[in-house]
Amino acid sequence: MEEMDYENRLVSMEFLPEDDGDNPLRPRTLDEYIGQQKVKDNLKVYIDAAKMRKEALDHVLLYGPPGLGKTTLAAIIANEMGVNFRITSGPALERPGDLAALLTNMDEGDVLFIDEIHRLPRTVEEILYPAMEDFAIDIINGKGQGATSIHLPLQRFTLIGATTRAGQLSAPLRDRFGVVLRLELYTPEELGAIVSRSARILGAAITMDGALEIASRSRGTPRIANRLLKRVRDFALVLNHGEIDEETARVALARMEVDELGLDLVDRRMLRAMIEHYHGGPVGLETVAAVVGEEAVTIEDVYEPYLMQIGFLSRTPRGRVVLPAAYDHLGIPYGESPAGGQQSLF
Ligand code: ADE
Repeated sequence: MEEMDYENRLVSMEFLPEDDGDNPLRPRTLDEYIGQQKVKDNLKVYIDAAKMRKEALDHVLLYGPPGLGKTTLAAIIANEMGVNFRITSGPALERPGDLAALLTNMDEGDVLFIDEIHRLPRTVEEILYPAMEDFAIDIINGKGQGATSIHLPLQRFTLIGATTRAGQLSAPLRDRFGVVLRLELYTPEELGAIVSRSARILGAAITMDGALEIASRSRGTPRIANRLLKRVRDFALVLNHGEIDEETARVALARMEVDELGLDLVDRRMLRAMIEHYHGGPVGLETVAAVVGEEAVTIEDVYEPYLMQIGFLSRTPRGRVVLPAAYDHLGIPYGESPAGGQQSLF
């Protein structure tokens, strides 16, 4: 069996150190930001209106699969509003005091970005409600009879929350966002434009077909497109005097075992195991997770959105089902489960 390196999969949508905040590939303005047109158009109206009123922008919730640019968009909003940008995450805010320390240091109109906001501890979430609604927090010191409470007024700030699924948020939290925006997977054309722009910033020569080849294997996700671009650029430098054309991109991506649709060894192994051991399903989510050695939430947030988008997988009340297009892609006749010992295609 092939070696599986789950932590370092090239098409992972998790942040890697190379995706750091100073990343020069990140667009800084709405005009530079490619795709998500509806989100962008509406955001522009809300930002312009808030600026005309000289008020803080209302709180914004961004949701959608990882890697689509939620953090980037939040930084752009702060930039367009001309305010400071503070960044934290749900799991990083362990105690109410952690959030209070951030909130009391914000200036009028500043943006606080909380990534993975669905993972805020309950006690922290509870002080967020009055902070969002009344721009004040009550800090309680001590317990029982001797407890004292301090009322701290805050500057009017904008909270931007990001989550992979809005459904994971508690209703009271969700209801406190005045603007709720859903990011969608990008089309290959949009990703092609992002790859071309990134190549220009990196100083890499790329043809339109080369950009589209990378784009079409990036699972609708800019973070993956930019990561693949950097690696294809390495192959192009060593194999093709630095130019990324369609052929070089194809060779490089094949060597990285990212197939024509952007599936890697893990995706193919997951689909194949569901077909071979469970007749293509329905298979319970926990079983799928065990098969690939990932957590169920990772399967749901990271692997499934793209497989569903390309019509390879469906979620049914009884479990996950592999669809005919996936059999076709893997070269397995639909309705048949190959016996063990048959030559593996990957
Ligand atoms: N890099 C990552 N996401 C991007 C986007 N939406 N537009 C331009 N460049 C990006």
